Amino acid sequence: MTVKDIFDTMDYGPAPEDASDARAWIEARGGIAGHFIGGTWDAMRADFDTTNPATGERLAGVTKGTEAEVEKAVTAARKAQTKWAKNGKTRARVLYAIARLMQKNARLLAVMETLDTGKPIREARDIDVPLAIRHFYHHAGFAQLMDDEMPDVEPLGVCGQIIPWNFPLLMLAWKIAPALAMGNTVVLKPAEYTPMTAMIFAEICTQAGVPPGVVNIVTGDGETGAALVNANVDKIAFTGSTAVGRLIREQTAGTGKALSLELGGKSPYIVFEDADIDSAVEGLVDAIWFNGGQVCCAGSRLLVQEGIAETFYAKLKAHMDALRMGDPLDKCIDVGAIVDPSQLDRISSMVAQNTAGDTYQCGAPDGCFYPPTLITGLAPSDTLMQEEIFGPVLVATTFRTPAEAVEVANNTRYGLAASVWSENINLALDIAPKLVSGIVWINGTNMMDAAAGFGGVRESGFGREGGWEGLQGYTKPRGKPTPLKTPVTFTSDDGTPADPLDRTAKLYIGGKQARPDGGYSQPVFNKSGQLLGHASIANRKDLRNAAEAMAAAKGWSKTSGHLRAQILYYIGENLSARADEFATRINALTGGRNGKAEVETAIDHLFTWAAWADKHDGAAKGVPIRGVALAMNEPIGSIGVLTDDTRPLMGLIEPLAPALAMGNRLTAVASHPFPLAATDFYQILETSDVPPGVVNILTGAHGDLAPHMAAHANIDAVWSFSTSDVSKVIEARSAVTLKRTWVNNGTHRSWPSATWRAQATEVKTIWIPYGE
Ligand code: NAI
Repeated sequence: MTVKDIFDTMDYGPAPEDASDARAWIEARGGIAGHFIGGTWDAMRADFDTTNPATGERLAGVTKGTEAEVEKAVTAARKAQTKWAKNGKTRARVLYAIARLMQKNARLLAVMETLDTGKPIREARDIDVPLAIRHFYHHAGFAQLMDDEMPDVEPLGVCGQIIPWNFPLLMLAWKIAPALAMGNTVVLKPAEYTPMTAMIFAEICTQAGVPPGVVNIVTGDGETGAALVNANVDKIAFTGSTAVGRLIREQTAGTGKALSLELGGKSPYIVFEDADIDSAVEGLVDAIWFNGGQVCCAGSRLLVQEGIAETFYAKLKAHMDALRMGDPLDKCIDVGAIVDPSQLDRISSMVAQNTAGDTYQCGAPDGCFYPPTLITGLAPSDTLMQEEIFGPVLVATTFRTPAEAVEVANNTRYGLAASVWSENINLALDIAPKLVSGIVWINGTNMMDAAAGFGGVRESGFGREGGWEGLQGYTKPRGKPTPLKTPVTFTSDDGTPADPLDRTAKLYIGGKQARPDGGYSQPVFNKSGQLLGHASIANRKDLRNAAEAMAAAKGWSKTSGHLRAQILYYIGENLSARADEFATRINALTGGRNGKAEVETAIDHLFTWAAWADKHDGAAKGVPIRGVALAMNEPIGSIGVLTDDTRPLMGLIEPLAPALAMGNRLTAVASHPFPLAATDFYQILETSDVPPGVVNILTGAHGDLAPHMAAHANIDAVWSFSTSDVSKVIEARSAVTLKRTWVNNGTHRSWPSATWRAQATEVKTIWIPYGE
């Protein structure tokens, strides 16, 4: 194109980025992307190829890591970990050096990323690489502060990290920077389609003085990933598809490995009629056409208020027509290639199968490109409104009222992010807390920063990356757990004597005492074999009723911390008034003499959590854009708990108090051998103004109830402190809904209040415009 042509058409001239340095870099390293283990290159084989999706050109051969190679990397990481964990300030210097060297190599990294992924160079240069660098700078700071500011925590050990192909360098930074900052060592597996920037990063590590074994990179595909999941690591951090996230949840169940999952999404982009329409249309370019829509938090579901829908669609289509698609190395390109032909097929077939609504498509070049697409007039339940497409395809529907917008927005299995567009601050800030998602952007979209937590709820996974909350995923409280001792269950030598008075304790569901569905009960004896009473045996139906009662009590989660504090104080006072009675009961159940102390501990615990109820404040994160990111601590919702069997009362109160204080509803299964202190506690609840359904108490065998609790769709988290061997089944069955779990794996420890608070809350990051 000549300058005259450009003036005649007023079109952009081509502005290609020069990729010769990146190609020379690959050439100089033998054209292979392979393992970096213990500080050296290892096993450089061309088992498969990585290509430039925009042209089909082969970039390099890639080594497919074997089990033995993964083990070798894990061993190198294990060997390096203790020394690396010693000094946070030393780690800070190294992380800072990494950031500096990434800055120096920014252009090479950006071009390599574009070659390998097909994303526009403008995005790689202005977003992926700067955000990755920012992550290392920010976490160099956390490393510097760790020893002084976080004296009560220690690293997890060796972290296995598996990342996807949509943001290869950025995801690497999100995984490696916090892990290293907190004193862990890592084995990272890049995605099979996109290993190249991880290779440059390995060289940067050497130059930055990262000690051998601290960062290990093993290339390969899903099988290599599975080998890493099964290896001797202390944590798996995964970003990718929900299907693989489920598999990993099942594979790690019962192993004691920590797990964080950042999975898919179908994030709503809600435009109210009082929005700045041009900005909202412009925002959609970033929401769904950024990285060709291959973004887990893409605003892929447009919800527009009915009155402005036609105007909005018209402006949007005009904007789509102006999008430039083509060679990703061209600096004028808005939408690049799809990462791999297999993904292109996936997108094409999903759209081809759809018969609903009206489809509007722009043109696309030949090859691995998919045209920007808008499908309007869909119903919220249509497949394309529900399934993640992971491509440049926007699906749209309309709504009439704010309440309907919230309902449609939340009508999804996912819960990663949401955008709200309105010029009315009252409306926007009214909607934000009602959205079930880990992130809300107000009048913005796809904003991310190292200081702000990122992560989702529901089938979008669990755990946060970024900010102080992200560090929790790479540390654990100091101190070692002790093995659990199963309590002795007392029996009667004379069989089960008839009970002249019917002293069968019922279940406590929805604020009422309820007979068990199955009609069964268990006798409870004291140490001398005398019958103390019977306890009901709850079954799956009773658990379902309790879950329904928790759902009906959702108003509790909206109450103020002040109100919850008062109720917890009241429970404490009422327990205190009957302390002797409970102490006697505990002694009778356990055959011990610790009843009084246990009651006192329980009262104190209730008072402590009454104190916390209105003090677990969130944070305002200073993000380097025109805005502020609020970290709001929200309750998780409904929590199922299998209590510590060894302590009849404290086993119940220990999880109950923090769960309630943070605004959750709870269904607890009482100690199996010693259930009658928990059943006596119904009366305390009944006299303490606890709304019905906020606390439900079941009795029965933990092993029978655990799998149902873990799989139940309306129970948002499961905790187990039980002496029964239920940790594995809970983690494995939780893969159905991908709920959060917190299990003891047969050990006991007293957790610090910070852990209880973190386990009882979900951090929602709300980005709002603020300041100049
Ligand atoms: P994927 O989930 O299969 O791949 C992500 C990573 O996991 C890659 O490094 C892969 O090698 C690894 N992996 C695959 N199977 C594994 C296993 N059994 N054990 C351990 N690691 C394993 O994603 P894929 O197939 O590349 O993309 C399919 C769909 O997943 C996309 O269309 C999109 O819907 C979703 N996806 C979501 C991402 C996100 O950021 N949330 C990123 C990538 C994909």
